[in-house]
Amino acid sequence: MNKGKLIVANWKMNFLYKNAFNFCKKILLKKKLIKNKFVICPPTTLILQLSSKFKGITFGAQDCHYEKLGAYTGDISALMLKDINCKHVIIGHSERRKYYFEDHIILKRKIESVINAGLIPIYCIGEDINIKRKDKTKNHLLSQLLNTLPKKNKNKIIIAYEPIWSIGTGNTPTVNEIEDVNLYIKKIITKINLSYEKTSILYGGSVNKHNSLVFLDNKNIDGLLIGGASLNLNTFSSILTYK
Ligand code: PGA
Repeated sequence: MNKGKLIVANWKMNFLYKNAFNFCKKILLKKKLIKNKFVICPPTTLILQLSSKFKGITFGAQDCHYEKLGAYTGDISALMLKDINCKHVIIGHSERRKYYFEDHIILKRKIESVINAGLIPIYCIGEDINIKRKDKTKNHLLSQLLNTLPKKNKNKIIIAYEPIWSIGTGNTPTVNEIEDVNLYIKKIITKINLSYEKTSILYGGSVNKHNSLVFLDNKNIDGLLIGGASLNLNTFSSILTYK
């Protein structure tokens, strides 16, 4: 049995206002049945309208710039996200790393800017298929954590273990493999003196209606980061209502 885990919906670049509004409205109709905490991360353009209408839902963003303000055309800062009622920001998603070349230096600054704005970073880490085949997953995760996380941070941080080979592919690690990685991440967290109690470790990558139940039953998986399946109302609400 899971005790109120955290489910994060990463809508990526999907939904216009009308679909998003209907989706949130229907989720709230099931409020009494919802057993898990949840955060919805819509496209930035929708956050203000949705957060003003749906006070019962926590919203997050999918990325931010590392500076507070300045001449960065097209960018949005953590402070600006706070201003539109965001509580969380996804940082370092593999699609950002791949398409926008975000490296450790940039990601470290982004995580700091999110924490400084008083928001909670959801920091994504994970190996690609070549690293997995070479059995170097833990080395890779270690470097992603040590090079970016602030030392001795007392604020809440969420880490999402998302193997790149599992995102959008239908393939996932076994629950035992995820548990093993999560315990390893917890070990690193302790080593760099982050607040252990305030750090949650989620799993993300091809989560669906069925595997979510197995993942949520594991005591070392604190929750899920869901892409494709978070756009499906039935699937998403069944995951939220699972206890
Ligand atoms: P997926 O995406 O659930 O569609 O595999 C997860 C993610 O990219 O966060």
